[in-house]
Amino acid sequence: MTAEIISGKEVSKEIYGEMGGEIQAFIDKHGIPPHLTVILVGEDPASQVYVRMKGKKAAKLGIGSDTIRLEAETPEEELLALIDKLNADDKVHGILVQLPLPKHINETNVLLRIDPAKDVDGFHPINVGKMLVGEDNLLLPCTPHGVQEMLVRSGTPIEGAHVVVVGRSNIVGKPVAAILVQKKPGANATVTIAHTRTKNMGDLCRQADILIVAAGVPEFVPGDWVRPGAVVIDVGVNRVDDETSEKGYKLVGDVNFDEAKEVASKISPVPGGVGPMTICMLMKNTLQAAKNQVGDP
Ligand code: GUN
Repeated sequence: MTAEIISGKEVSKEIYGEMGGEIQAFIDKHGIPPHLTVILVGEDPASQVYVRMKGKKAAKLGIGSDTIRLEAETPEEELLALIDKLNADDKVHGILVQLPLPKHINETNVLLRIDPAKDVDGFHPINVGKMLVGEDNLLLPCTPHGVQEMLVRSGTPIEGAHVVVVGRSNIVGKPVAAILVQKKPGANATVTIAHTRTKNMGDLCRQADILIVAAGVPEFVPGDWVRPGAVVIDVGVNRVDDETSEKGYKLVGDVNFDEAKEVASKISPVPGGVGPMTICMLMKNTLQAAKNQVGDP
């Protein structure tokens, strides 16, 4: 059996299509577009690429955006003062501080300073708490929310399914578990989180109807950890050496794709799987943040 591919490119296209009308309706009603401000500190090459991609996507959708670039040596106080200024600016609905930050800046201090109403990453503890409680019209963290959309829109039954999440990070593992366990449509799953101290990882994964892998280890999950017919979402993005490629490397996920696709019923590829969903959900959060701030959620 060869699994059906769950394409993040296709799913995100569908969501962008739905958002177009909503963004225009917001502009018509409020006279300004939803606006995202991205702060980039330093010159990390990968971050520069991500930030450019966010700006391009926003422009294509009719979302306003700007990027404030600060030198790598910028003192933490200066960054915090900038966040205060953006928090107070009614025209800015979403604020994203691109991570990682230079070592001398405390990431927690920065994330705590962003007004939770403008926290389009969904990383502020207030938003994390609201997510756990299951509030509506929330700013959910982008990657885990994207995983939920991929499952829902691929027609994967989630209610009552056993979801095994491999990885317990604050950015993916814990929030995806919190989202899928909610008593809500597109959730209602039985969720197990596996991590580096989990015993018999293979046996546990083989019990999953839905296997979500965010381990951060290239091809960590072999095909024989996948139950025949299971749905596999691979959140990993890893560069591995590849002399046959012009770049000298290739991208692989946290799942051995070639093995798993012969066992699973559906699987997300890397690249082209979860990756495109993160920016998509960031755009959705910017629109949601704007609606919430004008009192029209
Ligand atoms: N760096 C890599 N991914 C992300 C993300 O989703 N949000 C932020 N703020 N920084 C990142």
